[in-house]
Amino acid sequence: MEYRPGLEGIVAAETSISFLDVENEEIVIRGYDLLQLAKAKTYLEAVYLLLAGKLPDQQELALFEQQIYAQRELPPAVTDVFSCLPKGTHPMDALRTGISVLASFDPSIEDRSEAANQARAISLLGKVPLIVAYSYRILHDLPLMQPDASLGYGANFLCMITGEKPTELEASIFERSLIAYIEHELPNSTFAARVIASTYADMYGALTGAVASLKGHLHGGANEAVMYMLVEAATTEQYESLLYAKLANKERIMGFGHRVYMKKMDPRALLMKEALYELSQWKQDDRLYHMCEAGEAIMLKEKGLYPNLDYYAAPVYFMLGIPIELYTPIFLSARTAGLCAHVIEQHNQNRLFRPRVHYVGERHLQVNQDTKAN
Ligand SMILES: CC(C)(COP(=O)(O)OP(=O)(O)OC[C@H]1O[C@@H](n2cnc3c(N)ncnc32)[C@H](O)[C@@H]1OP(=O)(O)O)[C@@H](O)C(=O)NCCC(=O)NCCS
Repeated sequence: MEYRPGLEGIVAAETSISFLDVENEEIVIRGYDLLQLAKAKTYLEAVYLLLAGKLPDQQELALFEQQIYAQRELPPAVTDVFSCLPKGTHPMDALRTGISVLASFDPSIEDRSEAANQARAISLLGKVPLIVAYSYRILHDLPLMQPDASLGYGANFLCMITGEKPTELEASIFERSLIAYIEHELPNSTFAARVIASTYADMYGALTGAVASLKGHLHGGANEAVMYMLVEAATTEQYESLLYAKLANKERIMGFGHRVYMKKMDPRALLMKEALYELSQWKQDDRLYHMCEAGEAIMLKEKGLYPNLDYYAAPVYFMLGIPIELYTPIFLSARTAGLCAHVIEQHNQNRLFRPRVHYVGERHLQVNQDTKAN
């Protein structure tokens, strides 16, 4: 039996949801190019595509939006739990707890049918943005923003976080970022969700595990880490010095490298780089854009590494006025659609995940029968 650390290069699932075509630099989502979807479709159209397997027509989209908007409320127990958490709780921990609590309020929790799972996915797509925004606001003693039916999905989400209605450009860029994060084949968190779902555990359990996985800085947590680095440096010159110092110290630079893309640019990073440029022009403040470009050049020259999505999503979120601790929860919120699609697919064509190990421990040690403690 072959052993590859980190399952690098191993095909672990058969799926019709998405595929990273690295050679052709395309992220395939149910047959479509993710970048094209991000430029031409709304987040909910992309969600519909993931869950239904096809893009919606106008009527289907209107009904789908209605169904999701009708789910934009939380059981009071969820917000009560947030009120009980210590103020320093990281929003990812609050999110993990919030999704877990939702399970208790699903009357058909033991139903694994496709119809029940689809209804659950719609409910989660309504509720997860509320959990993200409300947990943060409760932990920071801020008033809760009610969902605004006059705003699109992304604009409303952004408004519930910042407390202010976004401009059209801000809303469009945020919506694009949600599509950039919506689905990405089999990263650690999606794999974790599928492994959990493969025991026929429920969707909440699978997503709770995915949140735990995504929090790590080698995965989703990288977007927050990138922003802390940029904030610490503050100027391009100091950022360059910081990067050289970290590289000399053999530290990993957050926002660079990717297990699948390796030495190629993550196509989603380019999408967010363009968005950062648009925001910089509009706000007439290109400091972050220049800092990021300088960092990109250093990493290419010194390590041959390209930025990933998190590198450019972080400054975009900063310029949208989003608190840094919410970058990874927003990633998870956007990824809810992809995760639900994977759980549904796993439940529909299940085979329990149960791999083997390459054992490197000792063998044939003898237990001394005389020393048994009473
Ligand atoms: C994403 C990541 C975990 C993928 O790692 P991986 O596939 O396991 O790659 P490896 O850890 O084997 O790295 C291969 C080499 O590149 C280097 N490398 C990879 N990413 C690096 C980074 N961000 N900064 C500096 N060096 C890096 C490693 O040190 C290693 O060098 P070596 O062969 O001289 O030891 C890794 O690139 C990383 O830690 N990136 C930063 C975190 C991040 O941005 N995560 C979000 C991913 S979307």
